[in-house]
Amino acid sequence: MQLKNDLLLRTLNGETTERTPVWMMRQAGRYLPEYRVLREKYGFFERCQTPELACEITLQPVDIVGVDAAILFSDILVVPQAMGLEVQLIESKGPVLPDPIKNNNDLQRVRVPDVNETLGYVFDAIKLIKQELNGRVPLIGFAGAPWTILCYMVQGKGSKTFDEAKAFCYTQPELAHQLLQMITDTTIAYLQQQVAAGADTVQIFDSWGGLLSPADFEELSLQYIRQIVTVLKEKIPVIIFAKGAWHSLENMAATGAKGLGIDWCIQPERARQFAGKDVVLQGNFDPAKLLSPIPVIQKEVKQMLDAFGPGNHIANLGHGILPNVPVDHARAFVDAVKNHKHHS
Ligand code: CP3
Repeated sequence: MQLKNDLLLRTLNGETTERTPVWMMRQAGRYLPEYRVLREKYGFFERCQTPELACEITLQPVDIVGVDAAILFSDILVVPQAMGLEVQLIESKGPVLPDPIKNNNDLQRVRVPDVNETLGYVFDAIKLIKQELNGRVPLIGFAGAPWTILCYMVQGKGSKTFDEAKAFCYTQPELAHQLLQMITDTTIAYLQQQVAAGADTVQIFDSWGGLLSPADFEELSLQYIRQIVTVLKEKIPVIIFAKGAWHSLENMAATGAKGLGIDWCIQPERARQFAGKDVVLQGNFDPAKLLSPIPVIQKEVKQMLDAFGPGNHIANLGHGILPNVPVDHARAFVDAVKNHKHHS
């Protein structure tokens, strides 16, 4: 199927396109009233596991805010679920894993599953989404980075510091590396099947990469991300988003990933120096800035796009969109990118 809008893919392949492509992390979610309607009726994992619902939610931001890419509606925590852990999503509390991994005994409950048996519903959703998108925009598949998944599997819930997950790695490094390798093996198989089902590119979310020192980031996160990229990059462009891990942009670029996400705490110019000239940078609008008046959003989008310059940039937020962002502000962000003219 020929894509009608392939700005994202051409940018990832190094082409300077007629304008900068734009999408928003967590664009399929609670800021959309149309999503909140489905949220009243169905549980979170029910929405993930029912291809028709996942498809409908994936398409919402394409139809409503006009982004240049769809991202699969699912969650990074379907992987620990498939590996044998119970995962609950509790209103106003976020994810809870009631039986987290604390020792070798717990690790015996974890397996590297057959992804077709455990995550087949995701591949069915992707096939349906590709059909319904009908070539309008590319589809982004995704998974969590092994380190970020370990954080939830060990801590058992969200955290500002993930100190228990870190303590597990620092006191039982052998177990930690066993677990990270199992997550990595599962993730490689999972992403390969997402691509086989029709994902045009995949993003690896390392939301908690920035909690680690540069040396620990290499040891506990990047060496596993590298394994994933090495396999996947043969088939499709890969984007790594390791929030707060700007110190390792050069090493992330060296994995062969085509795109690197950055958050709003680093200047585009400085990120470019660290990352080198070839890789595509993605970001880096402060998600909370979408709460400012629309003229401020428009002004700051212009500043951001001028700082990145034409080519090698995908406009995005520096982290997920917040649930309290008005839809017209999200649309103003997307439109400001679409209307921007780079001076040549
Ligand atoms: O980007 C998209 O719109 C696609 C869908 C998507 C979701 N989660 C749906 C979701 C994606 C790509 C994710 C990734 C994800 N999930 C990450 C990495 C990105 C990031 O934001 O750092 C993480 C850390 C998670 C784990 C997770 N899932 C948390 C911490 C929470 C609760 C807090 C929150 O942001 O809501 C979730 C739930 C979740 N995942 C929701 C959605 C739409 C909200 C569910 C609801 O209340 O309806």
